[in-house]
Amino acid sequence: MASDSNAPELGAIALPPPDWEPARPVLKLLAARHSSREFSSRPLEPAALGSLLWSAFGVNRAKRDGRTAPSARDWREIEVFAVLSAGTYRYDAPAHTLHLVRTGDLRSLTGQQDFVGMAAVDLVYVADFSKMGDANDEQRTFFAAADAAVIAQNVYLFCACAGLGTVVRGLVDRRRLAPALGLARHERIVLAQSVGYPR
Ligand SMILES: Cc1cc2nc3c(=O)[nH]c(=O)nc-3n(C[C@H](O)[C@H](O)[C@H](O)COP(=O)(O)O)c2cc1C
Repeated sequence: MASDSNAPELGAIALPPPDWEPARPVLKLLAARHSSREFSSRPLEPAALGSLLWSAFGVNRAKRDGRTAPSARDWREIEVFAVLSAGTYRYDAPAHTLHLVRTGDLRSLTGQQDFVGMAAVDLVYVADFSKMGDANDEQRTFFAAADAAVIAQNVYLFCACAGLGTVVRGLVDRRRLAPALGLARHERIVLAQSVGYPR
């Protein structure tokens, strides 16, 4: 919470810098995490693409097919679309497989900024509201945004480690993109995220 300079000091703990040995790998990734918006046209190798999608929202344990990102009430309502130059795919996490949903290059449709369409892959996080039980619309919107944001941070950390650039994007023309992806009424675009080798 922001401190109020007029408020009396109730006590403070001066923390040591983030350098705790057991957590060093993740601290290094967090130190490297940043948004970038300049991408080369180099495609991602299949191994990098697989690791990217697994990091985003893959299955990381046998117990109930748990995922790399938490989700509210374990709804797992976020569908990850991978928009590549060769086509648009939906990530099937349990099968760790990309299913083609659209042919053609839709990358530039996933955003409204100049660099969009340059990155090798644009991830689109789509909330399937039909998976969100008895939540009302406000709750669905809130939890879908939170759940997509956690996935986005997984992608940031993967990219920081893999030498890839990335930026998560809220600026998306959802009215244009939703029909292009063939989305149903209960499927809502939450965020997009560009990923690619830096220029
Ligand atoms: C929910 C959300 C939406 C964002 N939308 C956009 C966007 O549409 N376009 C963009 O270039 N950056 C977008 N960003 C990235 C922020 O601009 C960026 O995280 C911020 O400037 C801090 O920079 P950093 O990520 O390098 O620390 C978004 C970030 C978040 C968390």
